[in-house]
Amino acid sequence: MIVFVTGGAGYIGSHACLALLEAGHEVVVVDNLSNSKEESLRRMQDITGKSLKFHEIDLLDAEALDRVVEESKPDAVIHFAGYKAVGESVEKPLMYWDNNITGTINLLRSMRRHDVKVLVFSSSATVYGESDRVPITEDFPLKPYSPYGWTKFTIEQMLRDQYHANDDMSIVMLRYFNPVGAHPSGRIGEDPNGMPNNLFPFISQVMIGRRPELRIFGNDYPTPDGTGVRDYIHVMDLVDGHLVALEKLHDNPGLYTYNLGTGKGCSVLETLHAFENVTGKTIPYRIVDRRPGDVATSYSDCSKALNELHWKAKHDLIDMCADSWRWQSMNPEGY
Ligand code: NAD
Ligand code: UFG
Repeated sequence: MIVFVTGGAGYIGSHACLALLEAGHEVVVVDNLSNSKEESLRRMQDITGKSLKFHEIDLLDAEALDRVVEESKPDAVIHFAGYKAVGESVEKPLMYWDNNITGTINLLRSMRRHDVKVLVFSSSATVYGESDRVPITEDFPLKPYSPYGWTKFTIEQMLRDQYHANDDMSIVMLRYFNPVGAHPSGRIGEDPNGMPNNLFPFISQVMIGRRPELRIFGNDYPTPDGTGVRDYIHVMDLVDGHLVALEKLHDNPGLYTYNLGTGKGCSVLETLHAFENVTGKTIPYRIVDRRPGDVATSYSDCSKALNELHWKAKHDLIDMCADSWRWQSMNPEGY
């Protein structure tokens, strides 16, 4: 299959391209490198011994995008490209709406124009907002709380509308919980710009000596140890979910939504201790105030993906910490 991957140079996209190449697909990447480096693509091709086509293109450049879709003749699209930082989206909402929404509209238009009918979209558990209970199933109410979350919510609705207007389309929307970890080679991984927002890259940077300590945002949540609980999922499991989603669309065209997580919640302190066990290092930390917008507990029920896609996450928290640390220690400054 020829798979067109937007945002393929980014964290999840680069791991997905690797898995696609290993599965024997032809891969065409478009990325404007706004939050990634071409080095990720170079290394990933080196690991697989296979090559892909890369176009440095912005999805907001509708004409350039359309030319590449036309010339690539893809069988399917996986759409990762977009901005993803919750805090930044609060400060610069229009930038988020423009990039995420306009970029997706341009992509959908080109897909229609060139008869590309199959799409896998990166949504996020952020669409659930603060849920009333856990575990979270796909039919929970959607109530995002940040501009970023609203862009994911809106794109999901746009895709439902597009599917209902064109029932020859076939779409899977994947709601990721907390993707972490790296390819076991340690050669590709998550390389955030500036100060990391997320727990795993932050802990990794403390361990490598780039940050003095971890600040734990609150230990007074109604959770077993008072710190926030999340459903961390290894990026290699996550990208497997995309491959089985593509198979699903091939065999059973339709419109589907799936949670991708492990179904298990881990607290910040549990995660910190897992990193300490894996690395033998002590991680300095300090408890500070809660971070605005954080929920106490979020984890998935992934039985729909298990029943319909026969997909289940295989890696545990120890694998996630070990692979994150291998990537960080082999690449102290990132790419
Ligand atoms: P990332 O920033 O590493 O990758 C996104 C890629 O898209 C980057 O390479 C960036 O340069 C590119 N991009 C952004 N805007 C573009 C544009 N207009 N044109 C072309 N390329 C553009 O992020 P990621 O963690 O790999 O996330 C991939 C997708 O998964 C995103 O849509 C994100 O919202 C979603 N997601 C991520 C997480 C997470 O925690 N990482 C959780 C849920 C959902
Ligand atoms: N945390 C800390 N210190 C840090 C960073 C995080 O204590 O320096 C805590 C948070 O308070 C939270 C947990 O670690 O309890 C996880 O935080 P992350 O920032 O790693 O992940 P979030 O669940 O807050 O956010 C992630 C993505 C968002 C997405 C959300 C829901 O980053 O884009 O999951 O899917 F919206």
